Amino acid sequence: MEYLSTADIREKYLRFFEEKGCKRMPSSSLIPDDPSLLLTSAGMVQFKPYFLQQKHLEAPYVGTTTVQKCVRTNDIDIIGTTGRHLSFFEMLGNFSFGDYFKEEMCAWALEFSTEVLGLPVDRLYFTVFFDDDETIEIWKSLGIPEERISRLGEEDNFWRAGPTGPCGPCSELYYDQGPEFGCGNPDCAPGCDCDRYLEYWNLVFTQYDGQEDGTLVELPKKNIDTGMGLERIAAIMQGVQSNYEIDLMRDLLSVGERLAGATYGEDAETDLSLRIIADHSRSVTFMISDGILPSNEGRGYVLRRLLRRAVMKGHLLGIEGPFLGEYVDKVIELMGDVYPEIVENRELTQRVVLSEEERFGSTLRQGQAYLDDALGKLEGDVLAGETAFTLHDTYGFPIEVTEEIADARGITVDLEGFERSMAEQRARARANAKDADKAWSTYGGVMSEIVEETGPTEFVGYTKNDASARVLAIVKDGARVDALAAGEEGRVVLDATPFYAEKGGQVGDIGVLAEDDVLVEVLDTKEPEKGLIAHTVKVSEELPGGRIRVGDTVRAAIDVPRRERIRRNHTATHILHWALRQVLGEHVKQAGSFVAPNRLRFDFTHFEGMTPEQIAEVERLSNQKIMENHAVRAYETSITSAREAGVIALFGEKYGEFVRVLDIEGVSQELCGGTHVSATSEIGFVKITGESSVGANLRRIEAVTSFDALEYMNRVEDELKDTASELKVPLFDVSERTAANLKAMKDLQDKRKNNKEIASGEEMLSILDTALDAGYPLIVANLGTADVGGLRNAWDIVRARLNAPGAAVLAADNNGTPILLAAGTPEAVEAGFDAGAVIKAISPSIKGGGGGKPSMAQAGGKDLSGIDAALDAARSMLVSA
Ligand code: ALA
Repeated sequence: MEYLSTADIREKYLRFFEEKGCKRMPSSSLIPDDPSLLLTSAGMVQFKPYFLQQKHLEAPYVGTTTVQKCVRTNDIDIIGTTGRHLSFFEMLGNFSFGDYFKEEMCAWALEFSTEVLGLPVDRLYFTVFFDDDETIEIWKSLGIPEERISRLGEEDNFWRAGPTGPCGPCSELYYDQGPEFGCGNPDCAPGCDCDRYLEYWNLVFTQYDGQEDGTLVELPKKNIDTGMGLERIAAIMQGVQSNYEIDLMRDLLSVGERLAGATYGEDAETDLSLRIIADHSRSVTFMISDGILPSNEGRGYVLRRLLRRAVMKGHLLGIEGPFLGEYVDKVIELMGDVYPEIVENRELTQRVVLSEEERFGSTLRQGQAYLDDALGKLEGDVLAGETAFTLHDTYGFPIEVTEEIADARGITVDLEGFERSMAEQRARARANAKDADKAWSTYGGVMSEIVEETGPTEFVGYTKNDASARVLAIVKDGARVDALAAGEEGRVVLDATPFYAEKGGQVGDIGVLAEDDVLVEVLDTKEPEKGLIAHTVKVSEELPGGRIRVGDTVRAAIDVPRRERIRRNHTATHILHWALRQVLGEHVKQAGSFVAPNRLRFDFTHFEGMTPEQIAEVERLSNQKIMENHAVRAYETSITSAREAGVIALFGEKYGEFVRVLDIEGVSQELCGGTHVSATSEIGFVKITGESSVGANLRRIEAVTSFDALEYMNRVEDELKDTASELKVPLFDVSERTAANLKAMKDLQDKRKNNKEIASGEEMLSILDTALDAGYPLIVANLGTADVGGLRNAWDIVRARLNAPGAAVLAADNNGTPILLAAGTPEAVEAGFDAGAVIKAISPSIKGGGGGKPSMAQAGGKDLSGIDAALDAARSMLVSA
């Protein structure tokens, strides 16, 4: 058997099936286009619509062949402990949609195994589904002796991608690594848990469509779905004992060896950590490149757990600081030629990894200390569920990380208790949400009774602003009533209404319900039960006898100008979403929105604050689309065709069979039930007023449109004008002048601080020690930096400290110019000290001049370097005198 590199095997496989007539197709994203799956876990995922005959492969192809990136995390805790399990792996596959079937497939599998890979046929073993005699016959007809074919049950040989969808019995190929790998059990055979028989290829005969209720519906055609684990077959072809030792994975182990100064194969604990990081770093790189960001739910949480577990293992290996980036680079170097998306997303991946490492790194140590403490204090061998919950909630420890650390000390975690704490937290969150909406929730029972009676309300507000409608029910203080009188408040249900009920971030409409003798104000509109629109109303007291009664016909009219503003803002959020994806990348996904008449906000996934340039660009692109005046239209379609057309849906959102698509021509198509303008120029202008963080990897932009944008800009301008007039400068000089003023203020503060320091400083004490004898104590000193005020201050202190006759000649650097001060007490002056004369005599040394009285004089000059000479002159003049 010849050594084959991972790259060679990949290429030989794809070429082999291309030669058999299969179309070579690219791997699909790890985010499946399939709400029943969290992550792409097999090659067949992208072909589900073909198996179901919803899509068809064009001639002349007989099938397809791919190498598919896959992530499986169901057994995350055993990854690394065996040589076979990986969270990320590549699956080599070929797929037939009603074309070739068992006979061809078995023959080709044998041909590829023995002739292309050169596996000795007598080392190959085969399993089939227990009642599949047909496949046994096929293997026998290909020359396989019966004793090497075994029948296995549903668990091993019936394959499903998930609870529902295409599935079928399968036949698996095993390679016998030799008895030395075995468990020695007399009944050891393919399917045994030990390492002797390695399953490397699964041939699924996809004949059924699994239903929700568990039944199997025969598919119209018989299909083939196969999967060969690239890493497993590479281990066989490279004669190594585990997936981690194949060429590609070995290079990743080396990254850890280098960073940790460790050697693989010397210590079981170290090996485990090296394997886990090598494995997880591939999942992480590929997941982020496909647009998944760490979060606390769904696939984002899978990513976060993998990232944090890898960080934890790095920590255990003694690697300091963020390190996963080095792995990311290596994964890209090793696999970027086959998967260009990881090269394209290098920067994004590096940033996300670093930010998550820093985020977790900052709590890791404290969490570890908390856990150590809890484990130290523990009586018994079960860690309380609440402790695990605190670690999860406060320190961000994924539960399996806690379990692993505890396990290393022989302690288990009370998982039920942990789940209980999680459930309590969820209940608390729900209760809070309920409180906020209490007014509505107390009406719950009544409203569901009404909707059962009346059926859903017909919403006519996409096309009409007012409509004639019949009052079907009225609710007051939680109970049904027949009428509301003038001044009373309640809820009104109509048979049809143009009022939009708060939904999808868009606020509810307001307006009026009117008939001849009554005017009812609609203060808000909500949907307390699915399909039921309820208007919160107050009957106007303007018509004192007015009553609204069940059975009345009213004219329901929304506040049109307000709705128009809402419309503009709602379409603007779609345009901003599009622009954010242009500027920041495809990882930007809507995470929430709020659309009111006077403002909008849009929350989205992104891992760092936007730069002012990015904000400006998003704004510019959005306004460009507004000015280009694209048509906006909405249409209803099936969820399947919407998906096929690439319409953007909200992740994790459940949609019915029919959906409404909002199409901004040439810009974007998104699922949306809201109300919109009919052409983008109606929005007028959009202005982003804020950008901020609203959680891990979640950003928020706030914006205003049309007249609100104008008003906002006017306010900004007024503010600027006021400032300019205060500063007495032209409008566009405000920032320059402000900067200059701030600098001047800072200089002043610095100077004051310096003067104060001189005034109170210890320095003065040492100056006193240098007093010369001029018949009275004389101090001559250079005080460093100070202004004239500082020098005077200094003299005051000297004088106070001397508490006796004396004089001083002081110098300082005042912002680059030299200054001098001479001063004496009356006694010194009496003894002959003349400050004015001193200054006059010494100031030429600093190229300056000045003067004053005998008791105090000062000078400024031009030559800083002359200070010492000036002071020397003073000394010789006064002391010799
Ligand atoms: N879809 C099959 C598997 O994943 C081939 O094993």
